[in-house]
Amino acid sequence: MNRLQNRTALVTGAGSGLGRDIARLFAAEGCRVVATDQHEAPLTELVAQVTSEGKEMMYITGNVVHQEDVDRMVAAAIGWTGRLDILVNNAGIMDAFDPVGDLTDTMWEKVMSVNVTGPMRLMRKAVNAMLTSGGGSIVNVASIGGLRGGRAGAAYTSSKHALIGLTMSTGYMYAKQGIRCNAIAAGAMSTSIMEGFDFSKLSPLVQERIMAPAATNPRSSDPVEVARLALFLASDEASFVNGATIVADGGWIAY
Ligand SMILES: NC(=O)c1ccc[n+]([C@@H]2O[C@H](COP(=O)([O-])OP(=O)(O)OC[C@H]3O[C@@H](n4cnc5c(N)ncnc54)[C@H](O)[C@@H]3O)[C@@H](O)[C@H]2O)c1
Repeated sequence: MNRLQNRTALVTGAGSGLGRDIARLFAAEGCRVVATDQHEAPLTELVAQVTSEGKEMMYITGNVVHQEDVDRMVAAAIGWTGRLDILVNNAGIMDAFDPVGDLTDTMWEKVMSVNVTGPMRLMRKAVNAMLTSGGGSIVNVASIGGLRGGRAGAAYTSSKHALIGLTMSTGYMYAKQGIRCNAIAAGAMSTSIMEGFDFSKLSPLVQERIMAPAATNPRSSDPVEVARLALFLASDEASFVNGATIVADGGWIAY
């Protein structure tokens, strides 16, 4: 307990799934958590629950794609506690498994903006705040789709590869300033990310190249299993882990 005592963390996508579990776990470890999401209702419920347990959490709504929302999120953390020690870029969206031949500009731009541009804008802001306060830790939620070519469509796959590249660049460039930046290559988690998606409409190519091999996945995880890795990476226990991408997938990528 208290592995993040006196730290302030900003967690994006905290209204659901992995982000929600990360926010709860960080708060349980003594962290002051700024929970953000584009939807307000799940945040009010989360904050009410966590603060009723005597832990510290506030929320701010916003879209990670919009620079003015990003500015408000970081300002909220600094306005509340005077600092920002940890950023978790967790908010993300899936594509529709389209291979590049079927990919629309709209899908490409949407996925790249939420999964890459938003995290970059938050990192840009957070790094400058962390440089002022003497360091910090950034955790980017990527995917095993960012290490392989056959776990999602072309847009999602490209976006998570890009996020891993941004992680390595940031970890390397600011290592001497006390800022660590790492990525989590998560495997399948039981969350809402594919809610309502009609898998029966996938093309024969996608069925053969992505869905059939997915049977090699041993199991899906409870997102808290991945949240524990985010806690380790955010904490001082990971002091020598920087620019790294750590896989948490139950062994799927080992196939
Ligand atoms: N679920 C999986 O199997 C899986 C596997 C690997 C990686 N991931 C990654 O884990 C992360 C969390 O996903 P999840 O599975 O918990 O999904 P989720 O859909 O349950 O939660 C994502 C949250 O992000 C928020 N969000 C989405 N776009 C946003 C935006 N533009 N601005 C602000 N908030 C936004 C949503 O409102 C939602 O609350 C994502 O980055 C995802 O790519 C998920």
